[in-house]
Amino acid sequence: MRTQLADEFGLEFPIFAFSHCRDVVAAVSRAGGMGVLGALYFTPEELEMELKWIDDHVDGRPYGVDLVMPAKVELPEGVDASNLEQSLEEMIPQANRDFVEKVLAEHGVPPLPEDAPRSHHLLGWTDATARPQLDVALEHSPALLVNALGPPPADVVETAHARGIKVAALASSPRHAEKHRANGVDIVVAQGTEAGGHTGEISSIVLWPQVIEAVAPAPVLAAGGIAHGSQIAAALAMGAQGVWTGSIWLTVAESDMTPLVVEKLLEADSTRTVRSRVMTGKPARHLRSAWTDAWERPDSPGFLPMPLQFMLVSDAYSRISRAQNRELASMPVGQVVGMMNSVRPVRDVIMQLVEEYVEASERLQRLNG
Ligand SMILES: Cc1cc2nc3c(=O)[nH]c(=O)nc-3n(C[C@H](O)[C@H](O)[C@H](O)COP(=O)(O)O)c2cc1C
Repeated sequence: MRTQLADEFGLEFPIFAFSHCRDVVAAVSRAGGMGVLGALYFTPEELEMELKWIDDHVDGRPYGVDLVMPAKVELPEGVDASNLEQSLEEMIPQANRDFVEKVLAEHGVPPLPEDAPRSHHLLGWTDATARPQLDVALEHSPALLVNALGPPPADVVETAHARGIKVAALASSPRHAEKHRANGVDIVVAQGTEAGGHTGEISSIVLWPQVIEAVAPAPVLAAGGIAHGSQIAAALAMGAQGVWTGSIWLTVAESDMTPLVVEKLLEADSTRTVRSRVMTGKPARHLRSAWTDAWERPDSPGFLPMPLQFMLVSDAYSRISRAQNRELASMPVGQVVGMMNSVRPVRDVIMQLVEEYVEASERLQRLNG
């Protein structure tokens, strides 16, 4: 399973794993892949703690940091940049707030107690909020900096390169991939629509070869729908230099998901996901639940643009989680949810992927026999 890119990073296996959970990130890197920490939900101070912990727990193995610096979040007109969060909060229509309360009341979800820790409403997906995260990331020693929505700003690529850090970005079409390359991105993550989180519309098996051809000879990581080693063999056969995975790490033993969410993920089959704007205002794939269904009803007010939609629903997610409400609980996850059927340690998952990859490769060799 050795590829040039894996060799450049000093990886045993070209398996990249996105996770918001530091334990998963460090465990993947220690097992020979590359863990990549999703920085989105952390304040700069929290991110500093997470990265320090990772530095102390990867045994010198490489890891990455993923930021969400959208090329285009046009802040709504009239927003006061000096008082960004409050100014944005004031732009959320009361009708949308009322709808959130209505759905929660229908399911008996109580308000947050007074002393509950306040969740962050404005995450690192505006330039103003992602830059401080970037500064923290650069004080550590990630081998890879990844950007989720669109090409990272040119100066970010330059700064990363000056420090010997490679830059990757997610693409859901060949056109996105070419744009990334034009902006100096080293590695393109070609992510099919079946992926968990923000996704485009093209399925992996159709997207991967198009992106590989569009940016050749630049390295491409294949993403979206990977939960079995034979899929890794397919991706490498198409010319990918590795795979980028997300959903499968939600149900590993090291994951910080609540037992209720893990149970729902283990139960779900591959038809139980939906692509919806419910969480962030941009289309993302989630586990379908009464919460995602409610937003499709005739009385739904529709979705607000990023970043307002998350600011609107952020407390609702905390309340649903706190109440452990089974019907409403949802989570970004891809169609591979149907292949996530047991809780195992990260190392076992990696080793099984490698075994399955070897079996698939041998099968092909026999055909060529
Ligand atoms: C719970 C969850 C949250 C995600 N959040 C982000 C994110 O903040 N930034 C990002 O680049 N990708 C994010 N993704 C997408 C992953 O990086 C990855 O591309 C995707 O999970 C791959 O497809 P798969 O889920 O089929 O493995 C997220 C995915 C999941 C499942």
